[in-house]
Amino acid sequence: MDSGKQVTFTLMLSVGSAVIGSLQFGYNTGVINAPQKVIEKYINETWYERYQEPISKGTLTAIWSVAVAIFSVGGIFGSFSVGLFVNRFGRRNSMLMANVLAFIAAILMGFSKMARSWEMLIAGRFVVGLYSGLSTGFVPMYVGEVSPTALRGALGTFHQLGIVVGILVAQVFGMEALMGNDNLWPLLLGFTFIPAVIQCILLPLCPKSPRFLLINRNEENKAKSVLKKLRGTTDVSSDMQEMKEESRQMMREKTVTILELFRSPLYRQPLLIAVVLQLSQQLSGINAIFYYSTRIFEKAGVEQPVYATIGSGVVNTAFTVVSLFIVERAGRRSLHLVGLMGMAVSAVMMTIALALLDQLKWMSYLSIVAIFSFVAFFEIGPGPIPWFIVAELFSQGPRPSAFAVAGFSNWTANFIVGMTFQYVEEICGPYVFIIFTVLLLVFFVFTFFKVPETKGRTFDEISAGFRQSAGGGAEKHSPEELNSLGADSQL
Ligand code: GLC
Repeated sequence: MDSGKQVTFTLMLSVGSAVIGSLQFGYNTGVINAPQKVIEKYINETWYERYQEPISKGTLTAIWSVAVAIFSVGGIFGSFSVGLFVNRFGRRNSMLMANVLAFIAAILMGFSKMARSWEMLIAGRFVVGLYSGLSTGFVPMYVGEVSPTALRGALGTFHQLGIVVGILVAQVFGMEALMGNDNLWPLLLGFTFIPAVIQCILLPLCPKSPRFLLINRNEENKAKSVLKKLRGTTDVSSDMQEMKEESRQMMREKTVTILELFRSPLYRQPLLIAVVLQLSQQLSGINAIFYYSTRIFEKAGVEQPVYATIGSGVVNTAFTVVSLFIVERAGRRSLHLVGLMGMAVSAVMMTIALALLDQLKWMSYLSIVAIFSFVAFFEIGPGPIPWFIVAELFSQGPRPSAFAVAGFSNWTANFIVGMTFQYVEEICGPYVFIIFTVLLLVFFVFTFFKVPETKGRTFDEISAGFRQSAGGGAEKHSPEELNSLGADSQL
């Protein structure tokens, strides 16, 4: 077998252990949806105990919204801090250390009921948000750096797979018959403890990133022996060659701070692409579904909204697997385009279903089809690709800063959608998805003209492509030039 495509045990162990971080992120994204009523009841009780009067509806909504949204505020801070850790402690050890946050969060959330303190719940959501924000930088970076070029997209998609499995597990555990009830909800939220323990056991068995060892630490022999294990072959000269090339390039670049990243014309193009792709992921409206699907289904007249929500989680997971198998063949650019267009069409379908619901009862079925296909197209491209493409668009020097900026953009947009969707929906009624349709089309046009194909090209080749076009004047290159960065950009 071609050693460039060999899936060794060490490689799978490394990727598998890393994406437990992604699972935690997904779990805590989805976990708050189902038990809303149960937890609100508890907040009300606690309030009564303290103040001898029932909580007002406005205060309860405010406390709940904060408990939901503070997760993404933690994510914003966490993702922005990625650069503080990865070069100092290394990628693997940073992931390991972040678990301290997962433990603290699990304790705060798990014991908030016992302590009669909803403040602990909010604090726990913030801390697990910090952990998740860090993970959205650490995991794709580590996975990108241990993967062989030919499998980088497929293995990069595992980050998203971890997220969607996490969401699905949370949706299932959150059912009333399992843990979404008065007695067990603290366990549901404290569950985060268990993946954290597993990750702490597994990560020390995983190798450090060979790129970190060679490029940041200059430990050539260690890098080589790690690569041999990851690739399952003794001949790792081509990988080493490529990393050294990147390293030489970095000597010229030095480590790039976030400020320099914005200033240098060299990075303007990849940075713009990375940020807009993150925005395309979040402003597609996907989390309007994952935070509020039950409510949306309810409004669309679906009789068992909780099952429809779990159905969307299943579709979400299934199509991430589809993407995993086709991303190395079809390429990133094409899949992202197909995904955005499919989502736009689904959003139109959703609007029709909601608008005609009063006249035609069967429109509630159309709304299920529309949401499922919205989610399916999301996972074909806009879900997984923005996360791992950041590692591909930047070389070792600017990579940590690039992850910080990309993560910051992603989480901020996530926060905005999470906070405003319910209000915007009240104003726009059934036409709320038109906003996402317009945004999706804008992102489609951007991707079509600006995003090059990165499939099958080494990190060094990709950044050389950007260097070339920046050399000719950062602003001036034509879309054809950019697309020719990847000769294989078409299907
Ligand atoms: C992506 C998004 C995340 C979303 C998830 C849904 O990972 O970053 O916000 O909840 O996909 O599958």
